[in-house]
Amino acid sequence: MSKHAATIPVNGGTVLSGVDLHPWSRQSAEASYPVSSIRYKTADIFSFEPEEPVDFIICSLFTHHLYDEQLIRFLSWIDEHAARGWFINDLHRHIIPYYFIKLATGMFSRNRLIRNDAAVSVARAFSVADWQRMLDKAGIGGRARVQWFFPFRLCVSCQAQSVPIQ
Ligand SMILES: C[S@@+](CC[C@H](N)C(=O)[O-])C[C@H]1O[C@@H](n2cnc3c(N)ncnc32)[C@H](O)[C@@H]1O
Repeated sequence: MSKHAATIPVNGGTVLSGVDLHPWSRQSAEASYPVSSIRYKTADIFSFEPEEPVDFIICSLFTHHLYDEQLIRFLSWIDEHAARGWFINDLHRHIIPYYFIKLATGMFSRNRLIRNDAAVSVARAFSVADWQRMLDKAGIGGRARVQWFFPFRLCVSCQAQSVPIQ
């Protein structure tokens, strides 16, 4: 549910919205963090229209679920809807985390889904060059920044030029 969190100014305060396609994510988030300042929503991000203007959008571990065309659409969506800036955090497609996670889940997990999905997620993730290509295709290559973080995360961010962050 932390995937798409948007800050929305309400009565001088800040409201977070968490959006996820699966209804279970909303239930789980409401149960584990029941506060009125976070609006949990079940929606497909490609048809989601925020009710109020959004300052920042944060996206966690979602983009590796997308095919290239969908990712380009999503980059355009996030850039269009975040007035001040946006931040994407996802896995880095690389041989080291791929084999590390395959080995670790093979040794420590009995769940067949986890053993398969963890390595597949790394394989479906992106390299720095992939991100640059996708950003260029979305027309935001010159403005966005791709950064590597330990352990094998790639984060992509963009600060809106017209509204400097204080
Ligand atoms: C790997 S999980 C990440 C969950 C959470 N954001 C996190 O960081 O732990 C990917 C999530 O993306 C959601 N998802 C997939 N397609 C989506 C879409 N089109 N719109 C909104 N959420 C979507 C899935 O329901 C799933 O919960």
